[in-house]
Amino acid sequence: MAHDKFASLIGSERPKATNIVIFGASGDLTKRKLLPALAHMHRWNLLGPHSRIIGSVREDWTKSHWENYVHDQLLQYFPEAVMNPPSWRRIAEKLDLVVGDLSDPAMYQQLAKTLHAHDGKTNALYYLAIPPSWYEIVCKNLKDAGLADEKDGFRRIVVEKPFGMDLASAKDLNCKLQSYFEESQIYRIDHYLGKEAVQNLMVFRFANSVLEPLWNRNYIDHVQISVSESLGIGYRAGYYENSGAFRDMIQSHLMQVMALVAMEPPVSLDADDVRDEKMKVLHSMHEIRPEDVKDIAVRAQYAEGKVDGETLLAYRDEENVADDSCTETFAAVKFFIDNWRWQGVPFVLRTGKRLPDRVSEICIRFKSPPQQLFQLDEDTVLNNELVFRLQPDEGMQLTMTAKQPGLSTELRGVKLDASYGMVGSGMPEAYETLLHDVMLGEAGLFSRADEVEESWAIVAPIMDAWAKETSIDTYPAGTLDIPGMDALLDDCEGGWRDLKLDDE
Ligand code: BG6
Repeated sequence: MAHDKFASLIGSERPKATNIVIFGASGDLTKRKLLPALAHMHRWNLLGPHSRIIGSVREDWTKSHWENYVHDQLLQYFPEAVMNPPSWRRIAEKLDLVVGDLSDPAMYQQLAKTLHAHDGKTNALYYLAIPPSWYEIVCKNLKDAGLADEKDGFRRIVVEKPFGMDLASAKDLNCKLQSYFEESQIYRIDHYLGKEAVQNLMVFRFANSVLEPLWNRNYIDHVQISVSESLGIGYRAGYYENSGAFRDMIQSHLMQVMALVAMEPPVSLDADDVRDEKMKVLHSMHEIRPEDVKDIAVRAQYAEGKVDGETLLAYRDEENVADDSCTETFAAVKFFIDNWRWQGVPFVLRTGKRLPDRVSEICIRFKSPPQQLFQLDEDTVLNNELVFRLQPDEGMQLTMTAKQPGLSTELRGVKLDASYGMVGSGMPEAYETLLHDVMLGEAGLFSRADEVEESWAIVAPIMDAWAKETSIDTYPAGTLDIPGMDALLDDCEGGWRDLKLDDE
């Protein structure tokens, strides 16, 4: 299947040979996301013959154990990569391993030897697929071992979210990382920015002149950004109990997407030009006062529910969740951006677990026409909507109002649909795109230190208010019956979109 983004690279820019060092190589992120993404890149010949994938594990593994491990994980998460023996052999040849404790300087000496073992090529990408409490010690040890200096090749670290738990911890983390690496060497991943449909949003906005005149407060009533998940928290209570839906999704993924929707056209696509524009949006956000929180933010937790006859556990009954937990599994917030383009236009963001379906989308809802010439029945769509579907079935949809064929003038909503599926292209996974960009040194899809800090500062009043609450509203698992959610759109036209898989 054609692979547009990468096919277009054939014969043009390719990443330089890179040692991809994965700290936390036996962990969940590595097996579910990183290994499949690297195998995809290998398939498109984007790793090059001299790149290597070096796992760092604490377990007493041998190199052949690591090879078998990678083989088994790929078999599960990207079987095509191992089905063809010669192709798998080429991946296996790239695998290397360092064993030891992350806090032990000897492990980094071993890593230094491994990095220099082949061809003198030492470009290195360090992926921190480890809990944040380890970030500092790993960076310090890399620095002490001379592995942070870009003397004979690039050195880049990739940091996963959560990037801090609030403004103070994010600042502290930035400060620590920047004491070992330059900001230009730090890549803070927000995998939503690697999603095809999110990147398409930029193209759609800035490669089409037809939208720009409409993209403002004169024509847009409000913007909805929704990420709905049907699964519960699974085995992640340890992390989620301290995070909740707001930190896990809104402060990071959804606010980043909002900034892309709202930003001004950048001067160029250089990373800092794009990030400067996103930063200006964050900087223009209307300040939230403690007394506003109850009117602009909603949170809730899933209670027991039933879907297709199956009983779904309440959040409090999930493994390792406290019986009296007040952690939110649903959060929604209404933001305003105080600038010429967006003054008074609500940006409403919502996300939750154990909702009816897994659907993520951005909906730009336009104002209804100033005069209603036509008689409308209740179900008729009045507002034009432009929807970017992030998943599933990535694509765009423009809803217009048209005449129902017939002698009478009846109106109906019609959808102009441009599904990515229809143009028949294979799509890279977000992690594949992002790893590829790190190897190329393109930082535009990664958050800069000031963006992360600004977004924590914006949401601090909400987190502070919620931290004081001793109870939380609930919704039955498998539903979107969230107390207070509708009121967020009281002043908006048209109410919430239905987040159904089949929107017909
Ligand atoms: C992660 C969150 O960052 O994003 C998870 O920690 C969430 O809780 C996931 O499930 C959603 O990502 P995606 O790509 O499946 O929408």
